[in-house]
Amino acid sequence: QIQDAWIRKIFTGRGDVTVEVELTVEDVATGDILVARAAAPAGASRGAHEVLYFPEGGVDAAMAAFEKLVAPEIVGLDVTEPYTVDGKLEEVDGTPRFERIGGAVAIATSFVAAEAGAAALGVPLYAFLGGAYARKLPLPLGNVIGGGKHSRRLGPDIQEFLVIPLNPPDVYTAVYTNVEIHKRVLKHILKVDTTFTGGKNDEGAWTPRISSVTALRILKEVAGEVGRELGVEIGLGVDMASSSLWNGEKYVYKNEGVERSPREQLDFVSKLVEEFDLVYVEDPFHEEDFQSFAELTERFKDRLIVGDDLFVTNPERIKQGGKMKAATGVIIKPDQIGTLLRTHQAVSTARDFGMRIIVSHRSGDTEYRTLAHIAVGLGAEVIKTGIMGGERTTKLNELIRIGEYLGKWAKISQIRRL
Ligand code: PGA
Ligand code: ZN
Repeated sequence: QIQDAWIRKIFTGRGDVTVEVELTVEDVATGDILVARAAAPAGASRGAHEVLYFPEGGVDAAMAAFEKLVAPEIVGLDVTEPYTVDGKLEEVDGTPRFERIGGAVAIATSFVAAEAGAAALGVPLYAFLGGAYARKLPLPLGNVIGGGKHSRRLGPDIQEFLVIPLNPPDVYTAVYTNVEIHKRVLKHILKVDTTFTGGKNDEGAWTPRISSVTALRILKEVAGEVGRELGVEIGLGVDMASSSLWNGEKYVYKNEGVERSPREQLDFVSKLVEEFDLVYVEDPFHEEDFQSFAELTERFKDRLIVGDDLFVTNPERIKQGGKMKAATGVIIKPDQIGTLLRTHQAVSTARDFGMRIIVSHRSGDTEYRTLAHIAVGLGAEVIKTGIMGGERTTKLNELIRIGEYLGKWAKISQIRRL
């Protein structure tokens, strides 16, 4: 049972203010008092259909809402059934977008209820969420070169240039593959941008002034080299975060000096997929254009064509996309939808349509490791959490620990290049 509940303001790695919720609960076996904590991450290229991050009045209004509406209602609830806490959040807020308490309060409360439930029972969070047989480890998808909003629009126009090991033998090798690519890429960047001083963006990706195509050329070369050395097949990907490029009529590539109509965007993306053998394409079109997503998916059924801002972890939007065959993968960001219960519904809807699950961080994230457990608990094929920087590596290091803990029972996802 929840004994007490607190909230405080803390910061993400980017310096955004966010909220951390703390609960005290009893250990089921010993009756000892345990403390659990969790925090909400914060996005920069947020989808229009996400829950409202803070209610009107900002973080202080969110804190007040927690203290007035949430804390008195959750004290006394049983955290070994954390969905009762999630249900209570629905009840006290009463709006689909968590407009009264805010999505940050909702997700931090939902996370901490699960953390507390696991702690009270003395089991790891991933097992608490996924059951005793949760043993599939996701492949890490990481950001190596970055542009777009995460680079203050000073780099390439595409937001993220990504790598993913496709058939690593274990999670340590998978993470090592990404780290090694990230390190080696610097030398190659310096050949084309001699003024580059080694700057990294919000997610720890290098942020040079180069074009998107140059970024992909570099990645292809380095991934090929590292892949041959480590005996791991490596796929390339992009998150185009296209809603950030879309001006209502065209996709504007400001730094690269190009504008593309939706049709031209479709051709451009298709060309990139073919030229660089991309296995992963996130948000190639803006967040309302299910139709273009479906056309691209029709062309590349064997690739991960993934909706982030398109779906915003919302079961209804995922269902709409599923019916239209708009994507082969779904980004799952629990904070986009507000609770783990809703997240679970989103994942099961995606599964109904055969879509793969990519559990993802936000560009403003915290030192919390919760996401690694959620990815394993939900049986996600992929975890997207950057490669470098404390708030990214903490999740990857936790994944390595979970892999070690599971030992020979661990099973790492494999993605076949078809
Ligand atoms: P965010 O975006 O800045 O909203 O976290 C990350 C992403 O687009 O995947
Ligand atoms: Zn995205």
